[in-house]
Amino acid sequence: MSEGTTMEPGDGTTRKIGRRSLFAGIGAAAVTGAAGFALGRMGEGSAAAPDPAASTTSSTQQRALAEAHRLPGATWPEVPPRHLTVAVLTLASTTPADVRTAVEAIHTATSEVTPDAGELTVLVGVAPALAAAVWPERVAHAEPLPAFRNDRAPFLAAGDLLVEVSAETAAAVADRMRAILAATPQATVLWRSNGSRDAPTPAGTTRTPIGFVDGIINPRTADLLDAGVWTGTGRDTYAVVRRMHIESTFTGLAVPEQEEAIGRRRDTGSPLSGGDGMAEVDLFAKSETGRLLTPTAAHARRAHPSNIGRPLMLRRSYALGDAPGAGLLFLAFFNDPATFIMTQRRLDEQDGLISHTYTDAGGVFFVPDPAIG
Ligand code: HEM
Repeated sequence: MSEGTTMEPGDGTTRKIGRRSLFAGIGAAAVTGAAGFALGRMGEGSAAAPDPAASTTSSTQQRALAEAHRLPGATWPEVPPRHLTVAVLTLASTTPADVRTAVEAIHTATSEVTPDAGELTVLVGVAPALAAAVWPERVAHAEPLPAFRNDRAPFLAAGDLLVEVSAETAAAVADRMRAILAATPQATVLWRSNGSRDAPTPAGTTRTPIGFVDGIINPRTADLLDAGVWTGTGRDTYAVVRRMHIESTFTGLAVPEQEEAIGRRRDTGSPLSGGDGMAEVDLFAKSETGRLLTPTAAHARRAHPSNIGRPLMLRRSYALGDAPGAGLLFLAFFNDPATFIMTQRRLDEQDGLISHTYTDAGGVFFVPDPAIG
C-alpha cells in the first residue's frame, strides 16, 4: 500500500482492511495471529475480542517478550516515569570517533539515584547523517526531517545528539543531566526542555495537558514492535522529538467540541464510535442518521496508521514543563522516519487538534541499541 492510499469511508475496496491485515501486508516483519494483535491493546478491552484461550497464552508471552524488547527510555519502563528532560546537543567535532566517544560518555555518566527515583533511564540518539558515518550498515535513513506546516520560526532543527533522561523524581533527572553535560564538555546545548506525566491510568496511559488520555493506541507486543519500531538490528530505532504548543483556541473550546476534534471522550478516553477507554476508534461507524461518529477532521482519524499504510509508531510524549499554556513534548519511535513524516503531512492537511498547535523545535535521531554499542 503506498502513500496516499486511503481507508476513508466510501472507499469500498479498502473498507474492510483492519490494522492487523494491513501490517501483515506491508512487508515489514510479519504480524501474526490474533493473540499478538490483542496484546497491542494490552490484552483487555480489545475491539478484536480475542478468545479466552488466546488471551491466556498472550499474557504469558507478553511477560516473556517484554524483556527482549526493552529499550530504556522508549519501551522501558513499560509505564513511562513521571519526569523527563530532553536535551539536543551540538558537538565541537563530529568525526565518527568523536561521536562514538560522546555517546559513550553520556551512557557512562553517573549520578545519585535515590530509591524514590525508580528506574532512571538514559536514551541517546544521533543525527541520522552522523549516525550513517558511524554505523553505515545499520542506518538506512540519513535524511533530516523536512519542514512541516505549523513549524514556527525561529525553529531549532539542527543538533547532533539527542539525550533523554527520565525517572520518577525531577531531582534525579536533573542530577543525571548535569552529570552528562559535565562529562561532555565538547557538547553545547542547542535546546532542552523538561517534561512530566500525570498519574498513570490503570492501563499505564496518562492524560495530556489538554486532559485527554494519550498513548492508548501503541505497539505493546513483540510482533508490533518488530513491525513498526525496531529496524532489524537489535533494538535500533529512530526517534522524533517535537516541542509542540497547543493554543488557547483549542483549550478554550467546549468539551464536546474538543471531543469531536480528537475523536475520543475526554473523561474516559472511549472512542466516539463506541467501546471502552482502550478500544480502537471505528473509522466507519455511523449514527442512525448516517453521520460519521469519528468526524473527518478528528485527530484519531487523521493520525490513524491505516491511512498511510504503515505499522504503528510508539508514542511516549510528556507534558511540556516550561511552556506558556499547554504544550507537549512529542516523542515517538519507528523503524523508518517515513512513518512520522507521512503521518505529520496528513495532520498538516487537516486535523481538529493539530491545526491549533505550533512547533518550535524538533528533529529526528537514530537511536543505536546501547546493548550493541
Ligand atoms: C499537541 C500534540 C498532540 C496531542 C495532544 C495528541 C493527543 C492524542 C490523543 C489524545 C490521542 C488519542 C488517544 C491515543 O490513541 O493515544 C492521539 C492519538 C494518536 N496520535 Fe496524537 N497527539 C498529538 C500529536 C501527534 C503527532 C504530532 C502525531 C504524529 C505525527 C500523533 C500521532 C498519533 C497517533 C498515531 C495516534 C493513534 C491513532 C489511532 O490509531 O487511533 N499525534 N493523540
